[in-house]
Amino acid sequence: MKGYFLIINGPNLNLLGRRRPEVYGTTSLDDINRSVAEALLDGESLQCFQSNHEGEIIDELQRAGFDADCRGIVLNAGAYTHYSYAIADAIEAIEAPVIEVHISNVHAREDFRRTSVIAPVCAGSISGLGTDVYLLGIQALRLRYGKN
Ligand code: DQA
Repeated sequence: MKGYFLIINGPNLNLLGRRRPEVYGTTSLDDINRSVAEALLDGESLQCFQSNHEGEIIDELQRAGFDADCRGIVLNAGAYTHYSYAIADAIEAIEAPVIEVHISNVHAREDFRRTSVIAPVCAGSISGLGTDVYLLGIQALRLRYGKN
């Protein structure tokens, strides 16, 4: 199946590899994106976007979310997960399916991380499986919305 997947990472995820490696691992965001790209199937392609700014994440959701070539979005919204109704509204408004991912197990950490205001408007959520969550998110999009 043709089309691209989009991985969006929110605030502080540009620091992966350096930020709390005991929680988030030692792999950089560039390396994660590269390994997901290497696991793509014939005809698939990948776009990757990272921003520390809420409005830029919303702009990217709106851009890809109405693009017929976008097969779905894997979103790690970082701490915005827990309180950004603006990102939740954007996900609800767009057409492309969004899979919420978290590297750490957000249910096994501080109480505030257990609340996701974006979960109700996402197609599904994957948490706690380390940096594999990005590829698992792509696989979920394939299984639910594609032919592979
Ligand atoms: C995170 C979990 C969030 O609570 C945190 O604010 C992050 C990363 C994760 O991938 O585990 O920035 O989304």
